[in-house]
Amino acid sequence: MESLDDAGVYKLSDDLAIIQTIDFFTPIVDDPYDFGQIAVANALSDVYAMGGKPLTAMNVVCFPTKKLDISVLKDILKGGIDKMKEAGVTLVGGHSIDDAELKYGLSVTGTVHPEHLVTNSGAKVGDKLILTKPLGTGIISTALKAGKAEKETTAKMTKCMATLNKRASELMQEVGVHACTDITGFGFLGHACQLAQNSQVGIKVNSGSVPILTEAREFAKKGLCPGGLGRNREFYGKIVEFSNQIPDYIQDILFDPQTSGGLLISLAPEKADLLVGRLQKAGVQDAAIIGEIISKPMGKILVE
Ligand code: CO
Ligand code: CO
Ligand code: CO
Repeated sequence: MESLDDAGVYKLSDDLAIIQTIDFFTPIVDDPYDFGQIAVANALSDVYAMGGKPLTAMNVVCFPTKKLDISVLKDILKGGIDKMKEAGVTLVGGHSIDDAELKYGLSVTGTVHPEHLVTNSGAKVGDKLILTKPLGTGIISTALKAGKAEKETTAKMTKCMATLNKRASELMQEVGVHACTDITGFGFLGHACQLAQNSQVGIKVNSGSVPILTEAREFAKKGLCPGGLGRNREFYGKIVEFSNQIPDYIQDILFDPQTSGGLLISLAPEKADLLVGRLQKAGVQDAAIIGEIISKPMGKILVE
């Protein structure tokens, strides 16, 4: 747990460690089946970020039995189980309680060879940084709640969040990388800060290469931002230096809290094009090289 990494790791033997993680939250989309899918993709992500293989999961359910029909819960759990099947994860149990507000998620157990564990503290000066999913899901879900997102925009955001980081994780293991973390509630810059500080390096981000959902740009320009975005900016803002020409709405997107975001991978520069090529060929089409690891200023992020 020392490095505030994505999940807890416990070594069982010289060649086997277990990875444990738990994540659950309130709905971010209206469709119960989609919500179930997203909750599972999100909960498994911390295991993938550490280079592990998720094996079993337990449902965590808070359901308002007096407010909602039980069919809603059935649809959520169906979405969840279908996503677990896709991931090759076995549901082994769970726990549910009656609660005023609906919440769903999972506790997940995975395995990894202790020598192949990928943490957020191994980035090396000269590394390239790869991001595997576009940013902007927090901004779009805020627009959705405000009734401003079109059907196609919601579908695009849902697909992005419901996509497993499985292939990206397998391919990064195949190529060999130095560090990884997944982008979730602290936003791209928050998680990048954690990676920089735990690895005791600096990061230079080329904002023009960062993949962003097109509609998130439009909403961000109009100032439609989730509350968590402001908190991220407040907390991590001191650690980030923006060059003069970065418009405010781009800064917002870089701080946008993500649900089930992509992997941020740090790897040797000569392997970066190879990994991006393999990711895109495997359907992780938004994967891009978005920056590099620098020595100074240590623990800081420069955005150009
Ligand atoms: Co994480
Ligand atoms: Co997590
Ligand atoms: Co129980």
